[in-house]
Amino acid sequence: MMAANWKMNKLADEAEEYVVRLLPQISNVEGVDVAIFAPFTCLGRVASMTRDTAVIAGAQNFYYEDSGAFTGEVSAPMLKDVGAGAVIVGHSERREIFGETDEMVARKTVRATKAGLLPVVCVGETKEERDSGRMWEKVSGQVRAVFEHLDAGEVAGEDIVFAYEPVWAIGTGDVASPEDAQDAIGRIRDLLGELGGENFAGKVRILYGGSVKPGNVGEIMAQVDVDGGLVGGASLEADSFAELVNGAAEGG
Ligand code: PGA
Repeated sequence: MMAANWKMNKLADEAEEYVVRLLPQISNVEGVDVAIFAPFTCLGRVASMTRDTAVIAGAQNFYYEDSGAFTGEVSAPMLKDVGAGAVIVGHSERREIFGETDEMVARKTVRATKAGLLPVVCVGETKEERDSGRMWEKVSGQVRAVFEHLDAGEVAGEDIVFAYEPVWAIGTGDVASPEDAQDAIGRIRDLLGELGGENFAGKVRILYGGSVKPGNVGEIMAQVDVDGGLVGGASLEADSFAELVNGAAEGG
């Protein structure tokens, strides 16, 4: 899976131009699911433009209650209503800037799976945590926290995606080495096996995110446990994202 995380970028017309430019460049790609995580304000437009294609339109966040007095929030039924098929959950920017806790991330993951939205659950350590040898403590804690609310027996492995996004690699140009990406993602898969069984763990897609670019995508995607990428900066131009999708298809 190759996923574009536009973050807080693009007006509706820009989103439309992007999709028009992207689609013909990826129409021959096989074996890669493509997702675009758009801002709420242009999500409906992206969803309707991609409806008859293999591209999944997704949101970058939502709230786990379906309706009510939650000013400023958007629910799973609202996302479905505009045609979304997926949602990012617990991106580090949401955890750090907007105070999302492990518990909120877990509740959102459960709600997304029940609503038929594919959650892309983000985990990852800060530079400080990595440098002090606490990478796995942090990442495993974030993964375990999801399963305090999510029953692995009630969700198919295909219906949940994790993204390992080391915070120090996001938007910095400081990409993880293919070995470090494989190490963390391999350990996440082992932990998923412990929590939900091997069959489940084998079906969960685990993406790498953090400064993925056309120049480094191939070697990261070639790692055995890496099932794709979640891309911010290099996904903002349709041509560059198309290159990543094509690169992922070649890198396996
Ligand atoms: P980046 O962002 O590709 O700009 O590092 C990745 C992400 O935050 O999902």
